[in-house]
Amino acid sequence: MSQVYTSRVMPLDIEAAVLHNTRLSDDYSVLALDAPAIAAAARPGQFVMVKPSRGLDPLLRRPFSIFEILRTADGSPRGITILNKRVGVGTSLLYEVERGARLQVLGPLGKPFEPVDPPAEGWMVAGGVGLAPFVTLAEALIARGTSATLFYGARRAQDLHRAELFETLGVRLVCSTEDGSRGERGFITAPLQAALSAVPASRDVRVYACGPTPMMRAVAQVAAGHGRRCDVSLEQVMGCGMGGCYSCVVPAREPGGVPHHTRSCIDGPVFTADRIVWEALTSH
Ligand SMILES: Cc1cc2nc3c(=O)[nH]c(=O)nc-3n(C[C@H](O)[C@H](O)[C@H](O)COP(=O)(O)OP(=O)(O)OC[C@H]3O[C@@H](n4cnc5c(N)ncnc54)[C@H](O)[C@@H]3O)c2cc1C
Ligand code: FES
Repeated sequence: MSQVYTSRVMPLDIEAAVLHNTRLSDDYSVLALDAPAIAAAARPGQFVMVKPSRGLDPLLRRPFSIFEILRTADGSPRGITILNKRVGVGTSLLYEVERGARLQVLGPLGKPFEPVDPPAEGWMVAGGVGLAPFVTLAEALIARGTSATLFYGARRAQDLHRAELFETLGVRLVCSTEDGSRGERGFITAPLQAALSAVPASRDVRVYACGPTPMMRAVAQVAAGHGRRCDVSLEQVMGCGMGGCYSCVVPAREPGGVPHHTRSCIDGPVFTADRIVWEALTSH
């Protein structure tokens, strides 16, 4: 039986020093934060709310998946990283931030992924910056001896950041790019579809997905078509991250129930895909 994962600890609100900010490209960086208590409490797929500046613009914090847990030489949690893609004012400020700066960080937040135990297999499907919640999930899967595969899609080969990190962890890697510069040409749903078709129904596979909404919807359809459970991590706009502002609501339904709106910061960001009313979900 899989352990039931819940967000068991109160989130911490800390001022974290920036340990480094490694630019991977013109729009991606990995920001490392000195945050041992958050690192120690974090579960796979949880997120933090980061204030991109000390001033009033932007006023609100921005949500980011916890990308990696940083550890000291003796294995103690030291901090976290976030994989930042600049799309607007807050993420651009975070891309520019330098070592030694101090940022307000609240977390860990949200319902985490539930890693499956062997003989079940964990198949992660990431689109672009949707890779971010999967390092912690991959580590949890590998730690319990679960076979793990990452299907990782992006526009071009140079947008497939940190793929080798997963191989180092022992994760099987399947890549696709829209221009064919690495892996199969096209969307990542094609190799996922082919791989699911190739495994017998007796093999227990759990699909986990994170990326643009249309991609997650397509992955959910592919998984359902093969009778596989799919868990998605939604990336709705969030104002507070703690259930207070309702900026993050998503249309959901319980089995046999009527659609309603639920807050993805506290009821998610991880949902079983069949709970989401995809046709009513605003797309990013
Ligand atoms: C649980 C969760 C985890 C996330 N993890 C990561 C992560 O690990 N790395 C990362 O780079 N981003 C992540 N995001 C998305 C990130 O929070 C947004 O990109 C960020 O809030 C945008 O802030 P901004 O000030 O730069 O953009 P704004 O100036 O506020 O907006 C600029 C543009 O970005 C669009 N935008 C705003 N929010 C999102 C969003 N959630 N997704 C896509 N487009 C958006 C807006 O519609 C607008 O067009 C996550 C979001 C959630 C909810
Ligand atoms: S982000 Fe405020 S309620 Fe979810």
